[in-house]
Amino acid sequence: MNFTYILVNEQVAEHTALIQLNRPKELNALNLELMGEIRDALKALDENEKVRVIIITGNERAFAAGADIKQMSGKGAIDMLKIDQFSTWDQIKKTKKPIIAAVSGFALGGGCELVMHCDCVVASETAQFGQPEIKIGVMPGAGGTQRLPRAVGKALAMEMVLTGEFISAERALQAGLINKIVPVELLMDETIKMAQKMARNSPLALQMAKESVLKSFESSLSEGLSFERKNFYMLFATEDQKEGMAAFIDKREATFKGK
Ligand code: CAA
Repeated sequence: MNFTYILVNEQVAEHTALIQLNRPKELNALNLELMGEIRDALKALDENEKVRVIIITGNERAFAAGADIKQMSGKGAIDMLKIDQFSTWDQIKKTKKPIIAAVSGFALGGGCELVMHCDCVVASETAQFGQPEIKIGVMPGAGGTQRLPRAVGKALAMEMVLTGEFISAERALQAGLINKIVPVELLMDETIKMAQKMARNSPLALQMAKESVLKSFESSLSEGLSFERKNFYMLFATEDQKEGMAAFIDKREATFKGK
């Protein structure tokens, strides 16, 4: 897959694809074109049967420093409504396969929101997270006011959104925004290790498990439990369930086919 603002490796490791944001001079600022490319890449990878897990990363200095301020600065409200720049983000939300963010450096504004669209987050010690939109006269627009409090609680979310100050990787880990911190030089290796632990499982079970966890954010407990139960029963229609349970009983490794 050839893009201008991102690099895509469909097989960075077994069953694992990598999307790398590639606007280094602009600290991977998320312009409309880059977000459109992420949408197209995610759609293609979600449809690619060889891929079970997707990693999104930036570079050592920046995961992404937010939406492109230069692209937005001259716009009016009606322009923003017409462009509806956050509609491209719907594909990220719709992606069925697990997505892991591998974060080094700045993850700010839309960059932090992109991290929060991902299912797990591996960060290097240098990672910094923030919602600094307030400092430029606006506020988060790609889910920051909704996903951040769900991830870190009201007090810290309010502090980050209202002061615009960044938090360190350490603080983000304590608050539950990220899964782990690793040395910067090991970021990709450690992220791939996590991806491989996921990718060796049944892709259908992965997708239904992801869908069920995400449902918990959008439903009552009883609706969520009923949704989970149906997905659990549904997996008994798969060859992977037969294979997984037979392999356990035979004391061997399971070979999952996504059927
Ligand atoms: N949009 C456009 N360009 C950006 C950018 C952004 N979000 N962030 C950085 N850049 C550009 C800078 O303008 C600069 O370009 P030039 O060399 O052409 O001047 C280049 O990237 C390097 O940045 P700095 O020189 O500023 O680097 P620094 O190390 O001094 O500072 C920083 C780094 C603290 C991240 C600083 O760049 C910064 O504060 N960036 C903006 C962060 C921000 O406000 N993000 C929120 C954007 S709005 C949003 O995201 C809305 C939403 O909800 C989706």
